[in-house]
Amino acid sequence: MTSENTTVLESANSQSIDERVRALMNEMTLAEKIGQTNQINAAHGEIPDWLRGSLAHGNIGSLLNEVDVDTVNELQRIAVQESRLGIPLLIGRDVIHGFKTVFPIPIGQAATWNPELVEASARIAAEEAAATGVNWTFAPMIDVTRDPRWGRIAESLGEDPFLASALGIAMVAGFQGDDLSALGSIAACAKHFAGYGASESGRDYNTTSIPEIELRNVYLPPFNAVANAGVASFMTSFSDLNGVPSTGNKFLLKTILRDEWGFTGFVVSDWDSIRQLSDHGYTEDDRHAGLAAASAGVDMDMASTIFAEHLAPLVEDGELSIAMIDTMVANILRVKFQLGLFENAFTEANAYAKPLNAEHLAAAKRSALQSVVLLKNDSRVLPLSQFATKTLAVIGPMADEPYEQLGTWVFDGVPEYSRTPLESIRSLLGERGHVNYVRAMETTRSKSDEGFAQAVEAAQESDAVIFFGGEESILSGEAHSRANIDLPGKQAELIKALRDSGKPIILVVMAGRPLTLTNIIDDVDAILFAWHPGTMGGLAIADLLFGVESPSGKLPVTFPRVVGQVPIYYAHKNTGRPASQDTFVHMDDIDANAAQTSLGMTSFHLDAGFTPLFEFGYGLSYAEFVYRSLNLSRDEFAIGESVTATVTVQNVGDVDADEVVQLYIRDLVANVTRPVRQLKGFRRLHLQAGESQEVEFQIASTDLAFYGVDMQSVIEPGEFHVWIGGASSAELWARFRLVP
Ligand code: BGC
Repeated sequence: MTSENTTVLESANSQSIDERVRALMNEMTLAEKIGQTNQINAAHGEIPDWLRGSLAHGNIGSLLNEVDVDTVNELQRIAVQESRLGIPLLIGRDVIHGFKTVFPIPIGQAATWNPELVEASARIAAEEAAATGVNWTFAPMIDVTRDPRWGRIAESLGEDPFLASALGIAMVAGFQGDDLSALGSIAACAKHFAGYGASESGRDYNTTSIPEIELRNVYLPPFNAVANAGVASFMTSFSDLNGVPSTGNKFLLKTILRDEWGFTGFVVSDWDSIRQLSDHGYTEDDRHAGLAAASAGVDMDMASTIFAEHLAPLVEDGELSIAMIDTMVANILRVKFQLGLFENAFTEANAYAKPLNAEHLAAAKRSALQSVVLLKNDSRVLPLSQFATKTLAVIGPMADEPYEQLGTWVFDGVPEYSRTPLESIRSLLGERGHVNYVRAMETTRSKSDEGFAQAVEAAQESDAVIFFGGEESILSGEAHSRANIDLPGKQAELIKALRDSGKPIILVVMAGRPLTLTNIIDDVDAILFAWHPGTMGGLAIADLLFGVESPSGKLPVTFPRVVGQVPIYYAHKNTGRPASQDTFVHMDDIDANAAQTSLGMTSFHLDAGFTPLFEFGYGLSYAEFVYRSLNLSRDEFAIGESVTATVTVQNVGDVDADEVVQLYIRDLVANVTRPVRQLKGFRRLHLQAGESQEVEFQIASTDLAFYGVDMQSVIEPGEFHVWIGGASSAELWARFRLVP
């Protein structure tokens, strides 16, 4: 079939859906239309009479949080068979990083820098969820965030718009597949639109102030990318953006989403966020809030029931037009048709592979393996192969926590299936080695040192120590922000006590955010940062510790030295007075009575400098990679053309391993200042020991576009620098000119 034919066919199909929507809407009363905009939380267990009645009257368009397949089928049966027009239901659920099989938390999946793996994981999550009747997930969360204090950084894909776009698209592809009506496809939802990741001081739900230029260049690109990729729905953010809460924000929901991007799916509010418009001080009461949300472009009300109660009176009083209601309802119905729900709203669980099957678990292990970032490995203490036949002390509150290793948003995860590090290390070593396990702390937050003596004794009797610490899952996620992001409780004290044993100390961190590790970094020989790695996390960590596989995760977010550096991110601006090692002076080195202008006068903190503890894109390997011969196919090209950058990457280590090759650019001069570096390409490679590979990236002039001072996307001629390497600090570089 030619592509022209495909387009004709596609438009015929979408036309027929539009026609079906129109035909159905011709039959609908105002009450039935408003019913479609109403999403309510499902009661668990028995379906109460009021709910049966509401469904039969067509007063509900969607339910969330029901995952018992028989109950879901019964809810659909009432909607389809007992309501006048038989409109099926959207069944929503937070399927965020897996369903029953739990994959690493999204920030961990982002550390894989592997879109194929992220897509495959989302597909498995979609299939397991679809088997229960869920047909809509509230994912992907693609809020760019540069604040590790914010608990929801765990759910995010990190600090960079390019990486978050690539992985967001991969998640949508996994959830939705090519065909929303296919077995195992569920509708995705891009959230939280928009700017939520900039919540002031990282405190959840807090105000955001984002200049439009920053919004367009940093926060919106992932949303634009998934809108272009066909995501079925958008969710508004709880937060207020430059004084207008997102749920009432016409500029976001109409001007940008509909007029500029041409989005044709539907928009759902966040949980009760329509009612919260009044708490924000943006509306007076529920009626006013309903009017503001509907007028701004919210199509469906999650959980507040304000649309159900107030839209009809608003229409009757002439404050909302029926045309507006029709648009909202059509947006929702279109997705129901695309999902094939009018053909079959029922779920046959047996049509699906069993959840938690071997293939799903193997995928979860692969994802966990690639998500773990090796931050430090002094004297190559890892892998621990040389200790495999010896005695190892396994210490700490996260070594054997089947639930905590799953991370936030695991409503449906099954901790009984979790493979913990402790049991995985034991089974990997078998009879060869011996494990001395001491939990030592009740939780990561414990302030008691009661268990320390026993832990230190175990360390002294062992050849090496592996400490499993970090944060339990409750310390990150929604509404779980922290102002101090050191290892909580007395973990630092315990690590220092273990250090005194003189044995090699390996720190394995499981956490929902970057942590400030400055206070313990010199007390440990190696650090594996495992995020919350999900069901198979322990097996993956054991394989990495003992060198069955080499670590290959790379940081999707900057790790600050101290929290006072936040926001600190790689794509910062140069400033008029950029800092350098030559100009930096630490406050401890300032002479008494130093003259005010004696300190270099550049942009740094006197106590923390200007660099992070670990930069974006960073991650070590058991192999070693050398980059050389960065070549550009030409050093000048015109707008509308592209240039090819090639580089040779060699594994000069002695083990086979993956490397994530990253390409960054800098636009030297523009009508608005541009970041010192911006990620524009990446590729995960597998290189055997000794192997070299030439890697090629195309840079098109369109990749150099940005929003300029007049808020239009522009491509400006001028000089650009390109770096390729294994982190955002890559040194190998070249330059080109873009000409008109
Ligand atoms: C969260 C959303 C989530 C929704 C439904 C809200 O509290 O902000 O991300 O999808 O609840 O559970």
